[in-house]
Amino acid sequence: MFKRIVNSALLILSACALAPRATAQQAIDAEGHQWWQHAVFYEIYPRSFADSNNDGVGDLNGITSKLDYLKALGVDAIWITPCFPSPQVDFGYDVSNYEDIDPTYGTLKDFDRLVAEGKKHGVRIILDFVVNHTSDKHAWFLDSKSSRTSAHRDWYIWRDGKAPGVPPNNWLSTFGGSAWTFDSATGQYYYHFFYAGQPDLNWRNPAVKDAMFDVTRWWYKRGVAGFRLDAVDTLFEVPDLRDNPVLPGKNRYGDPNMTDLYNTKLPEVHDVLRGLRKVADEHGAVLIGETWTRNIGELKEYYGEHSNELQMPMDFMFTQVKTLSPPDFRKQIAAVDSAGGWPVFVISNHDIIRSYNRWGDGVHNDQIAKVMAALYLTLRGSPIMYYGEEIGMENNDPKSRDDVKDPIGRLGWPVEKGRDGERTPMQWNESANAGFSMATPWLPVPPSYKTHNVADELKDPNSILNFYKRLLAMRHTDPALLDGSYIALNESDPNVISYLRRYKDEAVFVVINMSLSPQTVSFDLSAQGYPSPKAATLLSDLKSAPPDGALKPLVMEPLSVYIAKLSK
Ligand code: GLC
Repeated sequence: MFKRIVNSALLILSACALAPRATAQQAIDAEGHQWWQHAVFYEIYPRSFADSNNDGVGDLNGITSKLDYLKALGVDAIWITPCFPSPQVDFGYDVSNYEDIDPTYGTLKDFDRLVAEGKKHGVRIILDFVVNHTSDKHAWFLDSKSSRTSAHRDWYIWRDGKAPGVPPNNWLSTFGGSAWTFDSATGQYYYHFFYAGQPDLNWRNPAVKDAMFDVTRWWYKRGVAGFRLDAVDTLFEVPDLRDNPVLPGKNRYGDPNMTDLYNTKLPEVHDVLRGLRKVADEHGAVLIGETWTRNIGELKEYYGEHSNELQMPMDFMFTQVKTLSPPDFRKQIAAVDSAGGWPVFVISNHDIIRSYNRWGDGVHNDQIAKVMAALYLTLRGSPIMYYGEEIGMENNDPKSRDDVKDPIGRLGWPVEKGRDGERTPMQWNESANAGFSMATPWLPVPPSYKTHNVADELKDPNSILNFYKRLLAMRHTDPALLDGSYIALNESDPNVISYLRRYKDEAVFVVINMSLSPQTVSFDLSAQGYPSPKAATLLSDLKSAPPDGALKPLVMEPLSVYIAKLSK
């Protein structure tokens, strides 16, 4: 009896550790998991997904028309990068009205239809909340710059220059040049961590906080399931605006290298995150963070000391593993797994070179795409896919400066080509413009659309797309893949990464040869309670997968995957 009480107490305790703030969040199982812990997320860059009105730019109705595809792929939630009214200086990351839809993408009615259709398909909608800055065309900023005494003056960061023509300090915009722009009408500078068209909000002003929190309430009421919070690292600056330390050398824009010590990752960020989380909890919503953490300590901070900040800070450290190196991935996975929160894995997004090129060697890219999918889609945690990754879309970088759309590419050319390459139209089929639009798309489709597109890959059982579909179907149904712990195996193997996902009496065994040569691997799983394990293949791309039965040494072909269910 005592044992049973202790056990159930332990169960409650571990449920609390997983979901310490039960509030309005509905647990989906006895362990207290939340919906987002079992969900596969998929990032959509709306300009480039599907163009329903054939103007060359994607739109919300285009996304709605692809919900069947997304559901069949195994997606549970889509994160749409900003689709609010915007002058599009930074393609939507410069918001001029937080409570509407940009006409390029449709109307609020279209948005409501997307939410309703999403609900029917079991696909939730996550919006991108640009918290650090607005557009310089937002009504708040227009009022702010109208006079030094305007109602919204203190909603942004205005300061006098140090001397005529000299900005208040040495801070640099991450997109090049000074982070200060002079406004001649009022004779002061305003601060912008990003482009001059993206003035930073003054989060020390309680009115800003209230207005921004209300924006989230407004969208929750419209049915959104959460937000991806943009650029949270940069919400605060030290009040005395001290100069940042200058380092030797120059950056890609020709500016001095600098540590953003006094304008990024200030502790005050966490107060805002706790506040946003409180509102999110009232609506059972999830907060995903664009958190460029340098180490696990910083990642832990974003979960919050009492798990009361971001449920899903993104782990970009995973994308920093430059080569297919089992030791490096192992190290990173173990670190994130031990951080105390729910891991989030990302391999690509709209700001970084596509994973297909980053890890590809130019010869075996398709196989490498499968290897990486097998890795990050079988780990403990929630994955966030990037559109097109599932068909092996590649970067299509601009060939000349005149072709560049992303302003940082124009400024930094040729060292910095900008982010157009990873934002090209989704490749739906072999027809003109890859079936994305009848009009010339806003960015060119790469030649690879002839071989890497949804329609053709659906027909090919060995395609990257079908490999993703099988993996995602498996992770939705297998309890060990959904909830199991991560146990690294053969940790000194430099070529083959292998691990168990273990849940109660269930275990899934994952073996991935990341090298270009065949590898024979043996396993001793007695320490894990499997002295003479039997294996039944769940998914494998080995030419001759081992027959189900006693687990023997595995002969892994170059760049191959073997996933099996283990029993005693
Ligand atoms: C984030 C976005 C990026 C944007 C920047 C400024 O990093 O991902 O695309 O340019 O914020 O909003």
